[in-house]
Amino acid sequence: MPSSNTQHWNPAQYREHARFVSDLGMPVVDWLDPRPGERILDLGCGDGALSLKLVDRGCEVVGVDASADMIAAAQGLGLDARVLDGQSLAFDDEFDAVFSNAALHWMKAPERVIAGVWRALKPGGRFVGEFGGHGNVAVIVAALGSALAARGMAVPNPWYFPRPEEYQKRLESHGFEVARLDLIPRPTLLPGDVGGWLETFAQPYTAALPRAERRDFIAGLVEALRGPLCDANGDWWADYVRLRFSATKPDAA
Ligand code: BEZ
Repeated sequence: MPSSNTQHWNPAQYREHARFVSDLGMPVVDWLDPRPGERILDLGCGDGALSLKLVDRGCEVVGVDASADMIAAAQGLGLDARVLDGQSLAFDDEFDAVFSNAALHWMKAPERVIAGVWRALKPGGRFVGEFGGHGNVAVIVAALGSALAARGMAVPNPWYFPRPEEYQKRLESHGFEVARLDLIPRPTLLPGDVGGWLETFAQPYTAALPRAERRDFIAGLVEALRGPLCDANGDWWADYVRLRFSATKPDAA
């Protein structure tokens, strides 16, 4: 997760509006298939909820995240968690696996991420992750763009949501062998209306507005998105599309 001028992570807000992110991360843990004694890097560990699951499986886990507040929360769980931008990893040949859930889309320089992961892994090590793929939250992104355009403003998409072919090519051009890579539409039930999601995740957009206008901006978006995202029971669904992959740094590398 980035810690930038425009996106700030508040662990309490995250727990309220985004607990589903780690709750829905277990399929990625299954793909990782962590074994006791393995040393694993959790890239973009956030508040450490999934790092803890890996520790529970007997792994030695290092969590890294660009947000000092989220790292403080992870350290509060007793984890080895360090403030580090995933685009500037500085580990050499020391991990059996690099794991990442719902973080890579915040890192707009994928070449740097993949190069750092490659360096961090031992030969034979695995890179297993999931993040937003092509089309992820497209309805929300379009609504944000329209609402800003109506104010004569524009914000470039702050997220990296690649097509599967593109990401596979990037991994392979670094030397990874890709075992699986799937694009998975996964409409995701939100704990409240989309306003909570926007407050938690869409700060790169809302930060473009004067602080006093942000509440109305979000309220307008909630109304604009009610048709596409709220069902007949009043439940709100974000139009998530996941890109899940498993790749290996070959033994001979
Ligand atoms: C995601 O997990 O797909 C996501 C979260 C926040 C912003 C954009 C995408």
